[in-house]
Amino acid sequence: MAETQAALRRLALLSAQNVSHAEVFAAVTKEIRHRFGSLTARMIRFESQGTATIVANEGTAGPHVRVGEEWTNFPEHGLTGTVWRTGRPARVDDYREIPGGEPYRAEGLVSAVAVPIFVSGSLWGLIAIGSGTGPLPTDAEERLSEFTDLTATAIATAQSRAELIASRARIVAAADEARARIERNLHDGAQQHLVTLGLQIATLAECPDLSASARCELQKVLSGLRTVLTELREIARGIHPAVLSDAGLGPALRSLASRSALPLRVRVDVPARLASPVEVGAYYVVAESLTNAIKHARATHAEVTATLANDVLCVSVADDGVGGAVGRVGSGLIGLQDRVEALGGRLLIDSPLGAGTRIHCEIPTAKRGDKPL
Ligand SMILES: Nc1ncnc2c1ncn2[C@@H]1O[C@H](COP(=O)(O)OP(=O)(O)OP(=O)(O)O)[C@@H](O)[C@H]1O
Ligand SMILES: [Mg+2]
Repeated sequence: MAETQAALRRLALLSAQNVSHAEVFAAVTKEIRHRFGSLTARMIRFESQGTATIVANEGTAGPHVRVGEEWTNFPEHGLTGTVWRTGRPARVDDYREIPGGEPYRAEGLVSAVAVPIFVSGSLWGLIAIGSGTGPLPTDAEERLSEFTDLTATAIATAQSRAELIASRARIVAAADEARARIERNLHDGAQQHLVTLGLQIATLAECPDLSASARCELQKVLSGLRTVLTELREIARGIHPAVLSDAGLGPALRSLASRSALPLRVRVDVPARLASPVEVGAYYVVAESLTNAIKHARATHAEVTATLANDVLCVSVADDGVGGAVGRVGSGLIGLQDRVEALGGRLLIDSPLGAGTRIHCEIPTAKRGDKPL
């Protein structure tokens, strides 16, 4: 009992960490085989189209056991077929007696027990153990169900986490699309209109019939118009800089740095173009961190680095200001955290009082291979 509880605790801790599903399934299966001293332990997942996939196997195998491959013709009266049909635990006491049992005999199995895994009320799969000697003990189903319950909880948690990340990513993407649209509208619409008006006024101001005072007034209007145009360009660039979409992260960060009021050192080593959400996310991390450094830090200097290694983009912004930055006060740092986590990355804030602030983020640039649960 105590050993089983310790095993369940270990597995619960593992599944709470950010490891792949495959690792959790393998660890559960290994632990079960160890606890039951069985010849084999397997975890099988059902798909909605009536196929099954062995997601983890420990112990004996055979040509019929192919981890990761969809399995369509499992014997109707074997464990997988019975659990799929009934949604209840199943057992085979002697593989010689069931049609289609030969491959299991050939791998040395005499008997086996399977217990279904239900996730949020739906049949998700099963865990099975097999013995090479006689029938398995009568309490095997009950003992196995502790492991299926834990697996179900781990899967439900992982599903909720995946749904949360996906919905955060959708919200961030929708906001980015809206910003890019506003930037395009400003660029193609209002800005062009103001440029045309400016040209017309400039032409008018050259007209010989004008009085000196009217010419002077028109020059003032022209200069006001140019100021509005500059302001509008600045706003458009802050909304979603065109250079980011056109030329990528390196040029966009250098352009951002060239306009910064704070002396900066920038080191960008990102040789390739990355997926647009990754570039946009990294850009906003730098833009917001620099704005914060100017607004709050009383810094004299900042350093920006962006490097790409092993499919992970690392971006850091460090200032030499007063420190003490905290998320959850304004919307800036929390917004960055949402963005970066929606991309499967993480954001770290290191800001001891009096010792400057370093905002660091790591964003994966390749998708993880885990199948959705
Ligand atoms: N580089 C920094 N140096 C010192 N303090 C900082 C720095 N960055 C952030 N802070 C502190 O952390 C708080 C939270 O920052 P955050 O960016 O989330 O919000 P904000 O800048 O106040 O508002 P918003 O970004 O929504 O305009 C700031 O109010 C400020 O007190
Ligand atoms: Mg801010």
